[in-house]
Amino acid sequence: MNPLPSLPETGSSPVPRHVAIVMDGNGRWAHRRHLPRVAGHKQGVEALRRVVKACIERGVKVLTVFAFSSENWSRPQAEVAGLLDLLAFVLRHEVDKLAEAGVRLHFPGDRRGLSERVVQGLAAAESGTENNHRLVLNVCFNYGGRWDIAQAARRLAAEGREITEKSLSEATSLAHVGDPDLMIRTGGEMRISNFLLWQSAYTELVFSPCLWPDFDAEELDRALAAFAERERRFGQTGEQIRPAAGQHYA
Ligand code: IPE
Ligand code: IPE
Ligand code: MG
Repeated sequence: MNPLPSLPETGSSPVPRHVAIVMDGNGRWAHRRHLPRVAGHKQGVEALRRVVKACIERGVKVLTVFAFSSENWSRPQAEVAGLLDLLAFVLRHEVDKLAEAGVRLHFPGDRRGLSERVVQGLAAAESGTENNHRLVLNVCFNYGGRWDIAQAARRLAAEGREITEKSLSEATSLAHVGDPDLMIRTGGEMRISNFLLWQSAYTELVFSPCLWPDFDAEELDRALAAFAERERRFGQTGEQIRPAAGQHYA
C-alpha cells in the first residue's frame, strides 16, 4: 500500500486533496417523482459518476463516499435488498470504466453481512485497480465511524500494540488516504450520521440542500468555493497563520 501524506496544512488552499461526501436525499428525490426509493438510489449512481469525473478534472486526489451505513440495515427489507443489488450491479458494470479513468477503488466497511460473491467482487475491484493513481475512490459500504474506531482498537489489542492516536489512525479503514479536508452532506440534513468520526476531527463541513441524485459538477464547485474561503487553523490563531494580518495589533 502506498499511503498518501496527511499532514494538515494551515491557511486556505484552492482545491481540497481529499473530499468526503454523505450522499443523502435519494429517497426524497424518488418520492417527489412518485417512484420507489430504489429508483432514487439508482439515480444516485449517475450522480456519483458525474462527481468522480469532476473530481478528476479539478485535481482532487481522494474521494470518499458514504454508500451504506451500519444503521441502514434497519431500513425496509426490500430497500436493503435493492441497495445490495445496486452494489453488485456497480461491481459488474462500473469497475472497468473507473479503472480506465485511472481510479483506484477501496471499499472501507464491515464485510460481515455481505454475501461471499459480493465480498469477492469487492476484493477483485480493489486488487484490479491498485496500480491506478489519478483518483482514489473509497466507497464506504456497511461502514460506521464507531465500527471503524472499534475495529481499529480491537486490531491493536489483538496485536498487543499500544493504543496511541497515531497507531489507531493507522489501523482505521481509511489509513491509506489520510483525513478528509472537506466533507459535503447533500439532502439538507446537518449531521454526520456516523460517517468518518475519527477522521473528520479537522475536516471543513459543507451542507447542501441539493438532493444527491441532482448533485452535479456545478454543485461540487459551489462546495469547493465555500472550502476555498475557509481558514484552517488547527488550533492556532488567525495571526499565526497570516502573520501580516496580525501586524496592526503589534
Ligand atoms: C441516501 O439517501 C442513501 C442511503 C442512505 C443508502 P436516502 O435513502 O437516505 O434518502 P432520503 O434521506 O430518505 O431522502
Ligand atoms: C447517511 O444517510 C448514510 C448514507 C448516506 C449512506 P442516512 O439517510 O442514513 O442518515 P440519517 O438516518 O438521516 O441520519
Ligand atoms: Mg437519508
